Amino acid sequence: MIIAPSLLAADFGRLQSEVGRAERAGADWLHLDIMDGHFVPNISFGPALVRALRPSTKLFFDVHLMCSRPEILLEPFTKAGAGLITIHSELGDKVKPLLWKIRALGCKVGLAVNPPTSMAQVQPFLGMIDLLLVMTVNPGFGGQSFIHETLPKIQQARAWRRELGFSYQIEVDGGVTFDTVVDCARAGADTFVSGTGLFAQPNMKAAVKKMRLLVRPFDGSGTAKPSTKAVAA
Ligand code: DX5
Ligand code: ZN
Repeated sequence: MIIAPSLLAADFGRLQSEVGRAERAGADWLHLDIMDGHFVPNISFGPALVRALRPSTKLFFDVHLMCSRPEILLEPFTKAGAGLITIHSELGDKVKPLLWKIRALGCKVGLAVNPPTSMAQVQPFLGMIDLLLVMTVNPGFGGQSFIHETLPKIQQARAWRRELGFSYQIEVDGGVTFDTVVDCARAGADTFVSGTGLFAQPNMKAAVKKMRLLVRPFDGSGTAKPSTKAVAA
């Protein structure tokens, strides 16, 4: 299980210390939302900022490109210290070459699917990816409400992984809070992005711990496992 706070919900006036707060809180990854004002109606930050943050943390950088032209950004983000780069399945014919390029650059490969986009759109690429990002809000802004109708897509991702013998991680992103994280885990998610759900908490360490405990019984399999206590009883 991976907990990945999204920097989009951090205090932009003190980003370096916010990254430190996420690291000290025990997060596994840092999720970096890159918005270009075209693919989504918002602009966030670019590779120069990511590069500037890289020396201040050991956290793995999970870069989520919500951009119409990721081809011009793959190399800059790799050089900036990305460990994984996710592009969107809505980019059509561009998807396959982009996935190859990310792999060739030495990064892990992610593919995202927006709430209105069918899972048929990602199915042909499942053998090429390390992570499938099921968007649980329409991308563009933090702090939106979780869209429950996306849960069957997580189940589908898990079923395909099992049936077809793949090992991609299943990431959820958008409106993931203490209230919604269990539904995601039950459906099969194992990688949890949370922006406001974590950064808005005054005690982020306690919040990460609580999220981990909520998710732990499912351990990425989607099937609740008996606790050690229950086994011993
Ligand atoms: C949505 C972004 C998310 C966002 C999540 O466009 O991709 O990563 O930061 O924020 P919360 O958890 O606040 O919905
Ligand atoms: Zn994101």
